[in-house]
Amino acid sequence: MNDSLTITRPDDWHLHLRQGRMLERVVAASAQVFGRALIMPNTDPPILSGLDAGYYKQEILRATEKWGKFKPIMTIKLTMNTTARMIHEAAEAGVKAVKLYPTGVTTNSQDGVDLGRLKEMAENLVFDAMADHDMVLCIHAEHPLQPVLEREPYVIPFINALLGWAPRLQRIVIEHVSTERMAQFVASHSDRLAATVTAHHLYLTLDDLLGEELKPHYFCKPVVKTSSDQSSLWWYLLHSDNFFFGSDSAPHALHKKEACSCAAGAFTAPILLPLLAHMFEQHDALDTLEEFVSHRGADFYGMERNYDTITLVKNNHPFVVEYNEGNDELPRPMPLRNGETIYWHVAR
Ligand code: DOR
Ligand code: ZN
Repeated sequence: MNDSLTITRPDDWHLHLRQGRMLERVVAASAQVFGRALIMPNTDPPILSGLDAGYYKQEILRATEKWGKFKPIMTIKLTMNTTARMIHEAAEAGVKAVKLYPTGVTTNSQDGVDLGRLKEMAENLVFDAMADHDMVLCIHAEHPLQPVLEREPYVIPFINALLGWAPRLQRIVIEHVSTERMAQFVASHSDRLAATVTAHHLYLTLDDLLGEELKPHYFCKPVVKTSSDQSSLWWYLLHSDNFFFGSDSAPHALHKKEACSCAAGAFTAPILLPLLAHMFEQHDALDTLEEFVSHRGADFYGMERNYDTITLVKNNHPFVVEYNEGNDELPRPMPLRNGETIYWHVAR
């Protein structure tokens, strides 16, 4: 007999869709399942203004027309040249969030923010402008120059200082939280901070990434951490309303992943809900899945929850990820751990 679970349609509060042919290739996996997604601006060229975001949104809407209901929620990228005026204009153009990438921390972030100059940005009223429009500041919280496993906790003092320099900014999201120390910091500032949690940080550890053979499709930023960090992520998401789902699904062409110099990003969009249902079931927490993927993020962003539902079904046949073998250009979805089988799928 099949088990099934019907939940409010979920949202993805952190998604990379890219542009052009890549966008057309990857967007179906998200648009067929999620009601909304917060679209990351680290495209090439980047999304820096309300105008850029408007054009990008049109491109996404054209590519998702056939799934009608999917709503992209737009962001712009913060750079050292972003002015308060640009923030006001972006807000008026419908942009809901601003993404802060420390310079050089990940894919297409060379034009990001110098963490040592946050005070100056606050004095230039950049964060006040966000507060004026009730925008959300989304932070890739890693310090690019620190040892790789320390990069996330090393940013905590910078964020602490920012809370003081930008007292009117009420909603900050620490994206793709990966360490116990950062999760603890977010939970202890739950009046102003929230965190997104990805499926891959909940599923993989450093040992999966490089304990036996190096698995390029598991390589992402922040790097997946220890099983003790991972247990903390589970603990906080099961006990705290301000931890919600953002996939950070980040497609790269196959030749950029399976290469000597491997691009960071796990393309998880095609497997997200089956993988989440599988993991939540293993944690005896299926009753928290809906809150995590469908309620908390919408509540935090001040948007109504989706009205319709999706149904997850557990049946006798394992879920098979489509692999696109042989085409060098197409992104390959993140494979499951060796020997792992998932029986959940989204009913169509
Ligand atoms: O692994 C990642 N890939 N982390 C990020 O922060 C960016 C993303 C990308 O755009 O490829
Ligand atoms: Zn991302």
